[in-house]
Amino acid sequence: MPGNGRLMKKVREALARLRYGAAFSQQGEEAAVRAAIGAAGLDCAAGLQTLNNVLRETHGRPFDFGKDSVHWLVFACLSDAFPETARILEIGTFDGQFTAILARLFPAAEITTVDLPESDPILRSTYKREVDDAYRSFVARRDANLAAPNIRFRQFNSAFLLDRVRGPFDLIWVDGGHLYPEVAWDLAAAHHLCRDGGQLLCDDVIPAPDGPRTAYVSPDSYQVLDYFAVRTGETLHLFLKRCAFKHAGVPRKRKYIAMMRRKVTE
Ligand SMILES: C[S@@+](CC[C@H](N)C(=O)[O-])C[C@H]1O[C@@H](n2cnc3c(N)ncnc32)[C@H](O)[C@@H]1O
Repeated sequence: MPGNGRLMKKVREALARLRYGAAFSQQGEEAAVRAAIGAAGLDCAAGLQTLNNVLRETHGRPFDFGKDSVHWLVFACLSDAFPETARILEIGTFDGQFTAILARLFPAAEITTVDLPESDPILRSTYKREVDDAYRSFVARRDANLAAPNIRFRQFNSAFLLDRVRGPFDLIWVDGGHLYPEVAWDLAAAHHLCRDGGQLLCDDVIPAPDGPRTAYVSPDSYQVLDYFAVRTGETLHLFLKRCAFKHAGVPRKRKYIAMMRRKVTE
């Protein structure tokens, strides 16, 4: 029953606050994120300004470290650091909200964004797209978000990515299926399609081996990224995704945005 589900969630949150709340500081988490972005060689303060200029147009408000995903900020920092970026690939378009932000951050780049075709059973069975009315409004929202002239929307399962797109890309955002096997082949294909010196980023990375496993999140992506890092010597940068207690308070549930700079491989 939905009421019971909500109640259980509130009880779990209250118990988590009792256990972890005293040691948690959102300000401290925010400072750590800013430091981690700086340690990755990016200018966080300048990126925040760049992002807020975009968000004022698209959302009418500035970035919120508590509830917005830090990938918005990391990509804004990358747009400042690499203004010559020419080709971006996003695996997992969803409603195109982030694609629209990318199109504004990188107006001179061609952005290819890939999501499932209607014929793929995963499309309608996930992300509240089962009901026809909800699906129609989702499609209308997505189409409006993808209207910028520098966005190319492609519909196919990313299992076929290497047949359907040609690299190299300067930046790749891996945000499709979050479990094995999809996340493993997406990251391997993305690594292959990323140019030497380009950046590969991945959403919802959970380093804790006993982290949550649902239809939408799992520790699988971290294992794959670590597998690459060990063999390529590429540094894996992790940025806490959201800083509010409800997102970051329980250590084993913490989700990160991962960033790796592609090195030449043998
Ligand atoms: C988390 S959403 C993407 C959010 C978006 N990238 C953002 O930054 O806000 C994940 C999307 O990946 C798509 N997806 C899942 N598995 C896929 C696959 N095998 N191939 C292509 N897209 C996939 C889903 O349909 C969903 O729309």
